[in-house]
Amino acid sequence: MDEERTHAFENAIQNTVKAGDIVVDAGTGSGILALFSARAGAEKVYGIEIDEASAALARKSVQANPDGKKIEVVVADARSFTLPAAADVVTMELMDTGLISEQQAVVMNALRKGGVIDSHTKLIPSKVVCAAELVSYDFDFYGFHMPLVMQARNNGVDARVTNYFSEKTPYQNVDFSDIVETLVKSRVTITPTKDGEVNAIRLTTQTFLTSEITVWGTSDMNMPVVIPIKPIQVKVGENVNVLIQYEMGKGFENFSLIVE
Ligand SMILES: C[S@@+](CC[C@H](N)C(=O)[O-])C[C@H]1O[C@@H](n2cnc3c(N)ncnc32)[C@H](O)[C@@H]1O
Repeated sequence: MDEERTHAFENAIQNTVKAGDIVVDAGTGSGILALFSARAGAEKVYGIEIDEASAALARKSVQANPDGKKIEVVVADARSFTLPAAADVVTMELMDTGLISEQQAVVMNALRKGGVIDSHTKLIPSKVVCAAELVSYDFDFYGFHMPLVMQARNNGVDARVTNYFSEKTPYQNVDFSDIVETLVKSRVTITPTKDGEVNAIRLTTQTFLTSEITVWGTSDMNMPVVIPIKPIQVKVGENVNVLIQYEMGKGFENFSLIVE
């Protein structure tokens, strides 16, 4: 289990869920976030899971713990889940870097449109910030040059970053407190901090579980992603403009990054 991610959620849930709350955990998986909410005092927790096999595992975890009797595991697509009244808290971890491939924004929007989220509902996470930075990267593997999108667990892509040429520069703030615009079309100006050859953009994401509890990439959530570009020479004092476009939840087939 990804301890850094899971402890951060545990703390956020402990600080947010109050006695008597109704909680929805969308994409409950193992049921761990639902169990944290039950332990924090929720009266009822709905653990929504689209995959029957995962839901069966969640039920086992729930049944093995006394707090579990407050949890109902529901096999459903969270996008079509409804309740008679809005939940007090919604927890959800359907995230990947930049929300490029996973359904976090899409499911948040559907729960808001369906009335499960209203203006009083506390959200964990409450927002994410997507960032880009200039790097040089070693794309050579076993004697072959492979300039491909690089993603790996345990922040594994970073082992091949040979130099960092800028700070992390935000290109998209995703605030879940309202309907999220899932279409990203962001022109970001990145300021080089040193001279040299840049051949990739490293994407990272900061997750605000609450305003105080934030995490960048952990071993399994929002790990850095490296996007190859045509090599450019950068100089301190000469900004680099990058246009990043995609639709959240649609994956890299639908992603484009252009250095202007
Ligand atoms: C990254 S896992 C998180 C599991 C657990 N919440 C945790 O934090 O450990 C995401 C889970 O969401 C489920 N999921 C993905 N899309 C879903 C949807 N539209 N509705 C319900 N569950 C979904 C997946 O099957 C998977 O079990």
